[in-house]
Amino acid sequence: MVKIGIITGSTRDARVNAQVAEYILEKSKNSEGANFELVDIKDYDLPIFNETVPPAMANKEYDKEANTKWSQKIDSLDGFIFVTPEYNNAITPSLKNAIDYLGPEWRNKAAGIVGYGATLGVAATLNLRNILSNANVATVGPFGAFSLFTDFEEMSTFRPSEVHNATIQAVIETTVAWSKGLQTTRA
Ligand SMILES: Cc1cc2nc3c(=O)[nH]c(=O)nc-3n(C[C@H](O)[C@H](O)[C@H](O)COP(=O)(O)O)c2cc1C
Repeated sequence: MVKIGIITGSTRDARVNAQVAEYILEKSKNSEGANFELVDIKDYDLPIFNETVPPAMANKEYDKEANTKWSQKIDSLDGFIFVTPEYNNAITPSLKNAIDYLGPEWRNKAAGIVGYGATLGVAATLNLRNILSNANVATVGPFGAFSLFTDFEEMSTFRPSEVHNATIQAVIETTVAWSKGLQTTRA
């Protein structure tokens, strides 16, 4: 069994992110050989990055208690599905901050990306692929791209079109397959 975390990408109080993340969790329920869990970056309440040692060199030893908890959670997972909105053609500062906090905890693991926004979150998805490549996270080809205008009612209630079903299934299945494969690399 591989363990996959569905990672939220927004922490603002009025976010729609949690609805999309819950939907991905629901869609992943029947995946064979994998356990999925929601990992909400809001729960970790990470301040703006202020560690003494760059995480890539910190050997998983951190100054802040909040980061130790975050480190242990990411370390316990084999793969991820990031659910990201688009803010100014990029991911949110809170998601970038959460990624920056860690180093080896991400390394040689797989990730799927599900984006959303006024322009389908595509710029954020590409931005996230680039960021994750530096952490040696392998991002799978298929990606979710929900429209704020047609997959949400009044830009606030998530009502995804069925047209996305096959792609989301491909994101989930490929992330599971690559997460299994990369266990060998980490071993
Ligand atoms: C600061 C800010 C910048 C945004 N920039 C973009 C953008 O560049 N492209 C886009 O498609 N949507 C953009 N949006 C719209 C968001 O994708 C939309 O508000 C979405 O609901 C945000 O996700 P959240 O509610 O989960 O935080 C922006 C929203 C905010 C708050």
